[in-house]
Amino acid sequence: MPNKELVPVITVDGPSGSGKGTICQRLAQQMEWHFLDSGALYRLTALAAHHHGISTEDEESIKVVAAHLDVQFLTDQSAGIKIVLEGEEVTDSIRAEKIGLDASTVAAIPAVREALLQRQRDFAVEPGLIADGRDMGTVVFPEACLKVFLDASAEERASRRYKQLISKGVSASLEDILLDIKARDERDMNRTVSPLKPAPDAVILDTTKMSIEEVLEVVLDEAKHKGLR
Ligand code: C5P
Repeated sequence: MPNKELVPVITVDGPSGSGKGTICQRLAQQMEWHFLDSGALYRLTALAAHHHGISTEDEESIKVVAAHLDVQFLTDQSAGIKIVLEGEEVTDSIRAEKIGLDASTVAAIPAVREALLQRQRDFAVEPGLIADGRDMGTVVFPEACLKVFLDASAEERASRRYKQLISKGVSASLEDILLDIKARDERDMNRTVSPLKPAPDAVILDTTKMSIEEVLEVVLDEAKHKGLR
């Protein structure tokens, strides 16, 4: 059994569209560390509930779904990580806006967070872990070597998401995306359990006017200062 306390972890928290996902994947590639997309676990819980006809309001049943998630994260050389839920590939379907909103509803249920806690900690294996989420530095990995909190204005985050969808050929409304982002922020920041907030010892970066490369450079520099690379 590896001693999890000794496995180095870098946490990257922040709201939707702050660039966390891209930054974390690039960091994981460059450092050759593992990657935890914790948001995917909440999205998978919402999707599994949907598949089983369970309402996101039914807290007792959702808790059971979260505790028994049958999911595999497969590394696919060409396409990155492939996510398989109950034998079905859901890599793209969990990214739908509706699933994002449902994920933030189930994520506000304390028993769901509790059910997913150990599963997230189990991702911390040698040589190290880059953990992407909302409460990675505050709750899941409070002993992380480096904690980063990425932020950006809601308008900038909506515009990034809009461009991403359009580039994939998905039709989208910038106005609707902005409303969804604001609704999700409101729920994520104001829930009683594990609200979205920077850890007191986090490095906070406002990425509104920064490119991915610039953010990556700052985080890699911080990692270097901590002797992590
Ligand atoms: O990051 P992503 O947009 O995939 O996350 C989906 C939802 O899951 C978030 O809006 C948030 O409510 C929830 N989440 C969370 N804690 C995390 C990661 C995600 O509550 N560590």
